[in-house]
Amino acid sequence: MPEMKLGLFIRPTGHHIASWRHPNAHDDANVNFDRFINMAETAERGLFDMLFSADTNTAWTTVDSALNRQHYSAWLEPYTLMTALAAHTQHIGLVCTRSTSFDEPYTVARMFATLDLITGGRGGVNIVTTGNGRSALNYSQDEHLAKPERYEIADEFVDVLRGLWDSWDPDAFVRDRETSTFFEWDKMHVLNHKGKHFQVEGPLNVPRSPQGQPVLVQAGASEQGRELAAKAADVIFGASQSIEIAQEFYADVKSRLARHGRQPDHLKVLPGLSVTVAETVEEAQAKFDELQDLIHPDHGLAFLSRRIGHDLTGMDPDIPMPDLPAVDDVGTRSGQMLELAKRENWTLRQLYQHFAAARGHMLLIGTPSMVADTMQEWFENGACDGFNIIPSMFPDEFESFVDLVVPELQRRGLYRTAYEGNTLRDRLSLPEPMSRYAAASASAAE
Ligand SMILES: Cc1cc2nc3c(=O)[nH]c(=O)nc-3n(C[C@H](O)[C@H](O)[C@H](O)COP(=O)(O)O)c2cc1C
Repeated sequence: MPEMKLGLFIRPTGHHIASWRHPNAHDDANVNFDRFINMAETAERGLFDMLFSADTNTAWTTVDSALNRQHYSAWLEPYTLMTALAAHTQHIGLVCTRSTSFDEPYTVARMFATLDLITGGRGGVNIVTTGNGRSALNYSQDEHLAKPERYEIADEFVDVLRGLWDSWDPDAFVRDRETSTFFEWDKMHVLNHKGKHFQVEGPLNVPRSPQGQPVLVQAGASEQGRELAAKAADVIFGASQSIEIAQEFYADVKSRLARHGRQPDHLKVLPGLSVTVAETVEEAQAKFDELQDLIHPDHGLAFLSRRIGHDLTGMDPDIPMPDLPAVDDVGTRSGQMLELAKRENWTLRQLYQHFAAARGHMLLIGTPSMVADTMQEWFENGACDGFNIIPSMFPDEFESFVDLVVPELQRRGLYRTAYEGNTLRDRLSLPEPMSRYAAASASAAE
């Protein structure tokens, strides 16, 4: 029976925007590396497949002074964080975001090939075109490119990235002292890429990864995002508010793989899931309400404005949500949130509270068996291959998940009871990608 895959989405004090105000929160996590070691240790105790950090290339805060209430405006740079966590972990996959809009593929290929060698094959990169347009202002650009062009660049970027990761055959480095041959010439491959956006000669100056190539993640849900994932990604993160939306997303992305010569199980679909769990429903609800009450209305409105792409700051939080059009350029979640508000007839406060807790991801509040019931239902009914767990607050809510929900999933035979394999691909039940050069010579031989 297949087992569920679990990722942990880290963020300094948690994903709830007011998490840092909770008395038990590690409110200094934005400067304190030990807090992240603690998260990683708890995730390994819970036998998680991977730990993931998102990233953006700006501090968010310059637009609205209400964002001085935000705990992740300035914190640790995720790639550096992953390399440091490598030394404090043994099993878990380490994945973080890099931007196809602001990075060069050669640089990213080197970084993650190295992370993979350091960790024995536990590295992965989440490729994004970067949602926050203000990032462009930090990278010598006047404005962010429009989404179609960003995705066109991302497509070529990923192609170059994967080509560079194939620069060396696994047995290229023979280190023959007798003949003074360190590597075999014909096991090195020069990419010679000349495309519309990138010119990259290659080869990469880092050897092949122990898992073939680092795991590639994609998290955009638009048409272009889904296509990119179907073509090249190993994992796609999602944000679905209900099993029906998750099933549609799952069926859609899986159906795209065949066109790219791939099997449906070569792309793992992991929707985000925020869980508040306790022995009783009342206890879980009380924990959740405590966090909700900590949201400052100015922060709630500023946060909502940015996520849906309309300025709602300064408005009365208790008026009904105005009827506004979706802003496609800020992402697919803008439309989903507006639709939800309309359907439920919510006020601004109700909408930001809903969004602030799980940032547009699925939200569960209940006992371990209630949480496991929903996870099982999604897993067994074509909605996901596992979940990207989005704890509202560290350390408490993540520890509750590992202590209460993980054993329940294990009892039901839905989740591993020990780490198996060595690499992140092993854990995710993903095949090692064949080098494009090996594939070309295999098909030439046919
Ligand atoms: C779990 C998850 C993680 C994400 N991480 C990032 C990130 O680190 N940086 C970023 O700019 N966007 C991130 N995104 C946003 C998407 O990558 C994408 O940019 C956004 O959804 C807009 O693209 P779309 O219209 O294709 O959905 C993330 C989305 C999800 C669901």
